[in-house]
Amino acid sequence: MSPAVDPRAVESLLAFWADAGVDAAYADAPIDRLAEGAALLRARSQPQPVAAPARPVLVAGGSADVSAAVAQARAAAAACQDLDALAAAIAAFDGCPLKSQGARQAVFSRGPGDAPLMIIGEGPGADEDAQGQPFVGRAGQLLDRMLKAAGLTDRAFITNTVFWRPPGNRTPTPQEQAVCAPFVERAIALVSPRMLLLIGGASAKALLKRDEGILSLRGRWFEWTSADGGLELPALPTLHPAFLLRQPANKKRAWQDLLTLTERLDRPDRPH
Ligand code: URA
Repeated sequence: MSPAVDPRAVESLLAFWADAGVDAAYADAPIDRLAEGAALLRARSQPQPVAAPARPVLVAGGSADVSAAVAQARAAAAACQDLDALAAAIAAFDGCPLKSQGARQAVFSRGPGDAPLMIIGEGPGADEDAQGQPFVGRAGQLLDRMLKAAGLTDRAFITNTVFWRPPGNRTPTPQEQAVCAPFVERAIALVSPRMLLLIGGASAKALLKRDEGILSLRGRWFEWTSADGGLELPALPTLHPAFLLRQPANKKRAWQDLLTLTERLDRPDRPH
């Protein structure tokens, strides 16, 4: 018989973990990592039989596995002729490790499918995971207010570099972003915006393949190029609204970036 569990102790432990930012469970049952480690040490001290080569399995970070998942994503994305098909393909895709790390659902996009501007954030947070739409939490509400002030309401298609919430709101890894990238590229091709606004360092670095921090990248125009080189678009990195909520003094920089963006977006095409 299992010992009686004090519900107040459980509540208090859960509150402790929630305060520490642990608000998602990977699996239904607990795993005793200490026992696993002890078993591993015991096994290592035994003589090892010659092992057959292991078949690749999908784990976060393994490069062979990542290339297989990227190829799978590219094929699935290429088959999509419209955004509804793309949303369905993303939801059905099992190649991104984030999908099995506690996310409730895939979060793809919001905004008009023929928008002149595409906004690409980092990845869904808790509110987005619950509601199934990007940028609907506090950061998203600030983004919406900024877009409204810049006259951009209903002129932006909004998505992220990854479509499943990273556990504890951590930054998505480059591997997770690489696996989702073919879907992001297909979304860009289908929406066909005139330019991209890259929100935050994780988005700017992934899309532009650069290493500088966001404070150095923001407010400067770059050329985004698709993996096959067939598509090119102007892209402007800016600060993430979640960062602005923590450091409101930076809002004026983000506002300058939006003015830089709208100046180009609304500039009449020059005659050839
Ligand atoms: N932060 C992001 O980068 N994307 C979202 O969708 C929400 C918060």
